[in-house]
Amino acid sequence: MKLKTIFSVLIWFLASAVLCNSQLTDFFRSFRGLFGGEQNTIEDEKTIYDEYDFVVIGAGSGGSVVANRLTENPSWSVLLLEAGKDEIFLTDVPLTASLLSITGYNWGYKSQKLSTACLGLVDQRCNLARGKGLGGTSLINFLLYTRGNRKDFDLWAEMGNDGWSYKEIFQYFVKSENCSSCENIDEDYHGKSGYLNVEHPGYESPFVKLFIKAGQDMGYRHNDPNGMYGLGFSRAQATMNRGRRCSASKAFLRPVAHRQNLHISVQTRATKILINPETKEANGVEFYKNKIKYVVKVRKEVILSAGTINSAQLLMLSGVGPGEHLESKGIQVLSDLRVGYNFQDHMAMSTIPFLVNESVTVSDISVQNPQDIYNFLTRGKGPYTIPGGAEALAFIKSKYTREKDDDYPDVELVLGAGGLNGDVFGGFRTLLGIPESTSRKVYAPLLGKPSFSIATVILRPQSRGRVYLKDANPFHWPIIEPNYFAEERDVDTMVDGIKTAISIAHSDHFKRYDTKISSLPFPNCEHLPFGSDDYWKCSVRQVSTTLGHHVGTCKMGPRSDPTAVVDNELKVYGIKNLRVVDGSIMPNVVAGHTNAVVYMIGEKASDMIKNTWRGK
Ligand SMILES: Cc1cc2nc3c(=O)[nH]c(=O)nc-3n(C[C@H](O)[C@H](O)[C@H](O)COP(=O)(O)OP(=O)(O)OC[C@H]3O[C@@H](n4cnc5c(N)ncnc54)[C@H](O)[C@@H]3O)c2cc1C
Ligand SMILES: *[C@@H]1O[C@H](CO)[C@@H](O)[C@H](O)[C@H]1NC(C)=O
Ligand SMILES: *[C@@H]1O[C@H](CO)[C@@H](O)[C@H](O)[C@H]1NC(C)=O
Repeated sequence: MKLKTIFSVLIWFLASAVLCNSQLTDFFRSFRGLFGGEQNTIEDEKTIYDEYDFVVIGAGSGGSVVANRLTENPSWSVLLLEAGKDEIFLTDVPLTASLLSITGYNWGYKSQKLSTACLGLVDQRCNLARGKGLGGTSLINFLLYTRGNRKDFDLWAEMGNDGWSYKEIFQYFVKSENCSSCENIDEDYHGKSGYLNVEHPGYESPFVKLFIKAGQDMGYRHNDPNGMYGLGFSRAQATMNRGRRCSASKAFLRPVAHRQNLHISVQTRATKILINPETKEANGVEFYKNKIKYVVKVRKEVILSAGTINSAQLLMLSGVGPGEHLESKGIQVLSDLRVGYNFQDHMAMSTIPFLVNESVTVSDISVQNPQDIYNFLTRGKGPYTIPGGAEALAFIKSKYTREKDDDYPDVELVLGAGGLNGDVFGGFRTLLGIPESTSRKVYAPLLGKPSFSIATVILRPQSRGRVYLKDANPFHWPIIEPNYFAEERDVDTMVDGIKTAISIAHSDHFKRYDTKISSLPFPNCEHLPFGSDDYWKCSVRQVSTTLGHHVGTCKMGPRSDPTAVVDNELKVYGIKNLRVVDGSIMPNVVAGHTNAVVYMIGEKASDMIKNTWRGK
């Protein structure tokens, strides 16, 4: 009992230190070694030169790869600018990923008030979490490793993006990955010598096998989601190393941070890309560090990797964007492009608990025990290693997919080891934006009852949103209008997916735990018969939430596409020496989680940049 108390206090002491985002976080960084994590941290660069070959803006998933690969050439100098700080112990813990959204590691964006989605969330706005710190969004994400479907990339190529078909990009997934300890994978599809460690969670609840069996009963394979077949049910693969988060920074920056030609500057906010208005050449970057304004010049290129929201904002602030919009904000237009359009994302229904009659599920309370904590700290095993609480995935087809027999899913189901009623400390509910009043009605009555979840994700939405400038002040938030569920078809697809999730939970396999959906209705949908299509349609608009897969605002496309912002080499149209390398270039969101795809984009971009400047 005493030991339990000590461990709990320790964990929550650490948690509160991060939550306050105080100077204490720096103090705790020195404890990393004590918990068995790696000890090397990244030092902030104190001496910044006047000029570099490349300046990379943003040390997230895309920027970290580029900074690593470009500095392989010792004669090229790279300055990497990152608005946030280095990681600390708490970002290591896969299970508690949702807690990080209430820390300074999240930019904390919210959407505009929507009329089509997030209606039952706090303020009727959707929380759009974005990571801030070395590692970017890979610092706060749920660690699931999926590459999207081969068809996604073939479609990118069909849209006129030469070089981006699955056959052509596949090698870059393999290049970045180390899946040496993975089991039951299609070996030919995986890498074993990349920087990014991928492994299975060090824990498996009894539901994983039942979930996969239920899938097989429906005619789906038990597949490797990153292998030969796209459709199927499988155990999660996750970006972690011996049970700890393997962020973009741990994978791609720490091993090379010692390079003399790589300068990494943290807590540094880029505010403008400097472009010569006559020659239209990007030739420098303006940024702020410790409230001091700096300007550095670039000899070769500026690489913009600030993520889907900030890359769009920074381009527009720098004179690259929709002409009429920039003029209305008093910004000189240097290249009139549809920056900020084509915003896409994956919405998910993660809010339905399935109740069971045995304590075999994972909750805030169930993991508050010395054994699980000790197991995690010393061996990197146990429930703390479940990535964001997600244990298994299913890529399936709804009844709305037109192509009946191809291997291309439009819905994903994610098996969660616990339900939201077990989220006693509320980390998950806060990330999603579930109001107190809803928790009281829907989750509080089920407090202490074991439950799991099957989240439904719409993989190929038709709705498109947009990011705008509020004004020309780089420190103000942009306006985000995600437009989720503007297309009725997207709602219908979700409803079909939810019904499949329920039928799996109610299938024979799950009967041994007497599995039942919680029938407490969501507020504002109580007037509809529980479980009817209309009830689920209502719930989808009330309480479905984003998975944080924001992409598309700097769309890659051929010159003939009036909505394209970058070409197939990720060069910004109309501007020289400026590329965008992050999730924002995806012309269509892939049918999977996006992080691995951004790494692939970073790897491919690095090769293209090296080609451009070979021998120069
Ligand atoms: C809650 C959540 C869960 C997720 N779960 C998963 C998952 O399980 N699996 C998965 O594959 N994907 C997941 N994702 C998505 C995935 O992590 C992202 O798609 C990916 O990390 C995006 O990479 P990026 O390089 O485009 O942007 P980011 O990683 O966001 O990088 C942008 C970087 O630029 C910095 N920056 C921004 N503006 C400036 C500026 N002006 N000056 C300096 N620096 C700046 C930011 O601080 C950040 O570090 C999740 C996302 C969220 C929010
Ligand atoms: C890949 O992972 C394995 C085991 O997880 C490790 O032994 C090996 O050193 C890693 N390879 C590289 C190149 O990092
Ligand atoms: C749970 O329910 C199943 C099916 O009704 C039953 O066989 C099993 O014994 C129950 N388990 C417990 C712990 O009550």
